[in-house]
Amino acid sequence: MTTTPYAASPHVAALRSVALTVPDVAMAEDFYTRVWHLDVAARTEGAVYLCGTGAAHHLLSLHAGPVTAIRDVTFQARSLAALDTLAGTVVQAGGRVLAPVAAITEPGGGMGLTVADPDGRVLRFVHGDAVHADAGEVPDRPIRLTHVVLNSRDVASTQAFFEQALGFKLSDRTRIMAFLRCGSDHHSVALGDADSDSLNHIAFLMPDLDSVMRGGGRMRDAGYAIEWGPGRHGPGNNGFNYFIGPYGVVIEYTAEVQQVDDSYPTGMPENWTWPPGRVDQWGISQPPSPALKQAQRAVFFTPAG
Ligand SMILES: [Fe+2]
Repeated sequence: MTTTPYAASPHVAALRSVALTVPDVAMAEDFYTRVWHLDVAARTEGAVYLCGTGAAHHLLSLHAGPVTAIRDVTFQARSLAALDTLAGTVVQAGGRVLAPVAAITEPGGGMGLTVADPDGRVLRFVHGDAVHADAGEVPDRPIRLTHVVLNSRDVASTQAFFEQALGFKLSDRTRIMAFLRCGSDHHSVALGDADSDSLNHIAFLMPDLDSVMRGGGRMRDAGYAIEWGPGRHGPGNNGFNYFIGPYGVVIEYTAEVQQVDDSYPTGMPENWTWPPGRVDQWGISQPPSPALKQAQRAVFFTPAG
């Protein structure tokens, strides 16, 4: 008997990919393939599309641009009809449609809708995009994205947009972050309280904690220190190592993300406090490095057209 996957959002099935502009695509590609262990799914003039071992056509696309920026966050819609629904709910919630539902011409294809949220973050929804044969869990190789964390000057209003327009549900609210789910991952998006609407980090799901740890060693060998971790988070219960990747983009290897459904009790800040000196469940992690904290607020969205 097959069971239907838990659908927190009626419209959005999953986080698929993030698109970045970087000054030197070849240099970034070399890092993300040789060190970070993604594979090349497709190439176009001035861009490369990188996949993990899971079915998603790509998790990350790198595009040539004058500055490092985030072009969009792309989600998989639950159906073609969901794209039309989202085009309406986004506008009702104060967002804008940047490109109406139409065939996507970039690698991966499918039908897509591109919108801007009320603060100008560019979000894209796709359905019917190409998939790979799912190789599942391969040691030391990312499977898929599991979350992206976006900073917000007004988390309450950004959270309301994700809930009302996109159908996300709140899993936990801590003193500094709102964790939102669209499916069974504890969070696919988290919103960080900040003084800008920047990219905080992108999290890549590894098959197990050993892969997160060996990834830390591989990164250190390549000249990238572990800037936060190893540790195990409170909300989401996931093990983590954080790094500052090429061009200052903060990337996370993570594993064992908590799987939830509607029975999950939504936590509030008073439920998520650490004893003095602790920043992770194991009690072994140092706080995030000053360099990481700086990098977690230094990459901005390409302005919505
Ligand atoms: Fe994370």
